[in-house]
Amino acid sequence: MQAINVSIGFDKRLAAQDLAGSRAHAAMLLKAGVISSEDEAQIQEGLAAIEREMAEGTFPFRDEFEDIHMNVEARLRELIGPAAGRLHTARSRNDQVALDFRMWVRDACDRTIGQLRALQGALLAKAEAHADAIMPGFTHLQPAQPVTVGHHLMAYVEMFGRDAARFADARARMNESPLGAAALAGSPFPIDRQMTAAALGFDRPTANSLDSVSDRDFALESLAAGSICAIHLSRLAEEIVIWMTPQFGFVRLSDAFTTGSSIMPQKKNPDAAELVRAKAGRLLASFQQLAVVMKGLPLTYSKDMQEDKVPTFEAFDALELSLRAMAGMVADLQPNVAAMARAAGSGFSTATDLADWLVRELNLPFRDAHHVTGAAVKRAEELGQELSQLSLDELQKLDPRITASVYDVLTPEASARSRRSYGGTAPDQVRAQIKRWKDLLA
Ligand code: ARG
Repeated sequence: MQAINVSIGFDKRLAAQDLAGSRAHAAMLLKAGVISSEDEAQIQEGLAAIEREMAEGTFPFRDEFEDIHMNVEARLRELIGPAAGRLHTARSRNDQVALDFRMWVRDACDRTIGQLRALQGALLAKAEAHADAIMPGFTHLQPAQPVTVGHHLMAYVEMFGRDAARFADARARMNESPLGAAALAGSPFPIDRQMTAAALGFDRPTANSLDSVSDRDFALESLAAGSICAIHLSRLAEEIVIWMTPQFGFVRLSDAFTTGSSIMPQKKNPDAAELVRAKAGRLLASFQQLAVVMKGLPLTYSKDMQEDKVPTFEAFDALELSLRAMAGMVADLQPNVAAMARAAGSGFSTATDLADWLVRELNLPFRDAHHVTGAAVKRAEELGQELSQLSLDELQKLDPRITASVYDVLTPEASARSRRSYGGTAPDQVRAQIKRWKDLLA
């Protein structure tokens, strides 16, 4: 029984929240006239002593007391005697654990938002440094149209911005205190739930005591936000892995974020990026794990809910580590702008620009322009040339009205510069977005 029932091994991570909750609860019991000022003073002193023991690493975590709540209470009794027994008036472990866990997740959301901001800052700095650099934009991982490196990096700034907003939303929704719901039905004592809620930084107390002890959707919502964030991290990690291959050669990472091989001396492996890519598995699994624990539970508390903590702790550990590693990698990343520009100029990436030119200058319907451009690509392929290398003669065979001014749009730089629509890839648009984000984050 003890082996399956015990949770102190992992819920000791709720120690700080448990102590804060108990201190607020004791102060409230005093104000409500439920405990005497002598007892309250002893309880506060005892809890402070426990806090010190925990800081010094001398607090005895014991399996026989099952979980963090009973470990703290048992130690309090050893330190201050019978007054310790009054702390649990008008409270149950059911609202206690709901409170502790909620505060832990709330802190984790705050830390994650901070790390997302740091990652966005690293991306913004790189984007600004390479706002004009040209690289191929891809669809289907096939060269599509030239884009700027800054624009590509800013796409991730948008994603991580939405991730931060999701964590902020989840935090706002979870910021209600379940303390005082007691076992499930509320308390007959004249408790002041507003007082404990305010003392612990909540906006208000929860409005339904049954819901208070059985809700874990604050954790699910955070894990969902974490899963989406991990998917974004994994996509960026995947791009770093691809870009690091000698075949692409788009970026370099220093030895700080790569490893060598024990047998192949030429190797520079992007292990950190690969691990960030893989950690997404933990996040997605954690959401799944908790969702399955919760999905068939009748109201209110069931011991199943003790299984909420491990997946949540693991998920945030993996996410926070991934965010740190990714911020480090982004700062470390050295784009090989020459290789990127070279790649942007190959693969007929300005074909759309040729078609657009035919529409604009010769008033061709876009479908016809698409057809003429297709013929130009075919001819260039036959000659082993890029579009910009085709002679005017060759182009005029396709439509005699084509003039030399067409070459102005056939270079990747001109192509990228021309896409000045709002949110487009042109350097001035990218700089405007960089500025918008810098102001938002300031
Ligand atoms: N260790 C328990 C948990 O994590 C605390 C709540 C126990 N409540 C109960 N009625 N047994 O969920």
